[in-house]
Amino acid sequence: MEKKKRLVVSTGAGISAESGITTFRDAGGLWEQYPVMDVASATGFRRNPALIHKFYNERRHQLLLAEPNAAHRALHDLERFYEVYVITQNVDDLHERAGSTHVVHLHGELMKVRSIPHPERVYTLSPDSLDTSVDTRDEYGDPVRPHIVFFEEAVPMMEPAARIASTADIFVVIGTSLNVYPAASLMQYVRPGVPVYYIDPNPAPVPPNVEVIKATATEGMKILARKLGVGVPS
Ligand code: OAD
Repeated sequence: MEKKKRLVVSTGAGISAESGITTFRDAGGLWEQYPVMDVASATGFRRNPALIHKFYNERRHQLLLAEPNAAHRALHDLERFYEVYVITQNVDDLHERAGSTHVVHLHGELMKVRSIPHPERVYTLSPDSLDTSVDTRDEYGDPVRPHIVFFEEAVPMMEPAARIASTADIFVVIGTSLNVYPAASLMQYVRPGVPVYYIDPNPAPVPPNVEVIKATATEGMKILARKLGVGVPS
């Protein structure tokens, strides 16, 4: 059997918008409602960790009510035709819940926390105990923090993500304002000549080699599937 081509997808908050998860920089987005440096930065966590625990507790409760949408499912469907790698800036678990096999989280995972003194100790929260606070302790008695990459922190998954991007035969970007680095630079690792598509109803400026599909994630995935000649995914 012929080896499947590798399709690498870079997703942002826009792919989860149709699941009811608020994006960051759209009108009414999270960063309009909360000062980003208070709730999502290393400085903010040092200054007021209780606020950050509360912010991510709220995000987890919102996530619990959400379901993967047709765009998440379409990416899983594409695994029938391609070796699909999803590199996501999203901290939700909707790609996993839609069945995607290879998911790399650049900015961490909402449903996980980790030990502050031993960052390698990462714990998955269960749906019936989603809330954490400054008093939450792990099994060793150590305090925990959200397993989220805060602003001012390094992005440890960027290196593996860049390696994956450099092996793409087709590269697709979905629902990101391309504002946040290094994630926004992933496209630069794609080999010359590889087709690049960008699905977004309000796309950011991109180089001329990128084919923009100006549509929501669910509509855009149908258009993409037709362009790739793999029919309309379910
Ligand atoms: P943004 O909120 O910056 O951008 C959301 C993008 O989704 C915009 O380009 C919208 O046009 C697009 N969009 C809105 N609705 C859509 C839909 N139905 N279908 C497809 N696209 C849609 O979110 P990100 O670019 O993901 O990091 O933000 C990147 C990072 O900034 C996040 O991971 C987060 C944030 O600060 C951290 O908190 C570490």
